[in-house]
Amino acid sequence: MSLLKLDIYSVRNILKESIIPSPAINFIVGANASGKSSIIEAIFILGRAKSFRSATIKSVINFAEDHLIVSAQTLQINGTNLQLGIQLDGKNFEIRINQQSKQKRSDLAYALPLQLIHPKSYELLDAGPQIRREFLDWGVFNDEENFLPAWRKFKKALSQRNSLLKTKRTGQINVWDKELVYYGTIVDSHRQQYLKKLKPVFIEIIGQFLAIDGIDLKLVSGWDTAKQFSQVLVEDLDKDLRYGFTHSGPHRGDFQLLVNNRLARDFVSRGQLKLLVMSLKLAQVQLLANEQSNIGCILIDDFAAELDIINRAKLLSYLGEMKCQVFITGTEIEDFGDLSNTKSYKMFHVEHGNIKQV
Ligand SMILES: Nc1ncnc2c1ncn2[C@@H]1O[C@H](COP(=O)(O)OP(=O)(O)O)[C@@H](O)[C@H]1O
Ligand SMILES: [Mg+2]
Repeated sequence: MSLLKLDIYSVRNILKESIIPSPAINFIVGANASGKSSIIEAIFILGRAKSFRSATIKSVINFAEDHLIVSAQTLQINGTNLQLGIQLDGKNFEIRINQQSKQKRSDLAYALPLQLIHPKSYELLDAGPQIRREFLDWGVFNDEENFLPAWRKFKKALSQRNSLLKTKRTGQINVWDKELVYYGTIVDSHRQQYLKKLKPVFIEIIGQFLAIDGIDLKLVSGWDTAKQFSQVLVEDLDKDLRYGFTHSGPHRGDFQLLVNNRLARDFVSRGQLKLLVMSLKLAQVQLLANEQSNIGCILIDDFAAELDIINRAKLLSYLGEMKCQVFITGTEIEDFGDLSNTKSYKMFHVEHGNIKQV
């Protein structure tokens, strides 16, 4: 998948811009506050229907406007063109794929698998489990088509069960327990299989940036796996009733990055943490590409803030080999280092929200 043409309308200080990106690497350079991150944000919104910088879309829409639009002509892995578009007004969103209205964000996500690396990415390993669960599920979702339907059914059963718990209607809980166990087990095993495939790809990539041995990725299922999930639900029932929600299950799932059986985040340096996170994200894209199911698009905001000069050069040569489309921002052309060996890239200059190819 790659973007052949990108149109941005009313995203922060970008009023109306259109670019024809390179299918390989795109460098975006401009002074502070010129609009570089806004370009990355626009592409991210097209794939995920949300921002990575603001909790609400309202603050992303240009002050003078009441809605934003991002659209793109894309080339899919099977050689077909897909026109993707999203319009957001702060309350509602409208998604269009080849001029047809779609209801589901997942339709966009399948058509435009995005991976973002930015200065807060280290939170993947540093913050609470939700962000890791989302990361994991993004990978499983793109890798295994049966995952999303099972996950949706699980979520539905979970919310039914929680509302019974809140109103103390214990009589019908059994019915939902069965659904929860059935779909929860499917969700868990897809996650398990995915992490198993991701691990060698991740170890291969991190090996190019860091000399660390004894790396492991371990799934946390969300319940005490020494027992059956069904048994845990029965044992938890009193507690679940008291608090009005289901304590155990894949909605509490997580994964751990271990180095010699210790949690990496507890002892690696901030710089190492960034490299671990970057490699995890690249591994997801690489795995997709290896399995030929799709090739994602990689967004890297604030390249120089992320990596030292040596690792930047290594990353660029890795990305060049990977044959996927990349967008990278920096304040100076020098941030990108020596580009004499980088093939078929394009360079864009941003100033006051205007984008020009240089
Ligand atoms: N909703 C908005 N409407 C108009 N301008 C905005 C809005 N939100 C932010 N800006 C401005 O957009 C500019 C670009 O920001 P940003 O993309 O973060 O720049 P960069 O990444 O190049 O430093 C900033 O000057 C910022 O003040
Ligand atoms: Mg920025």
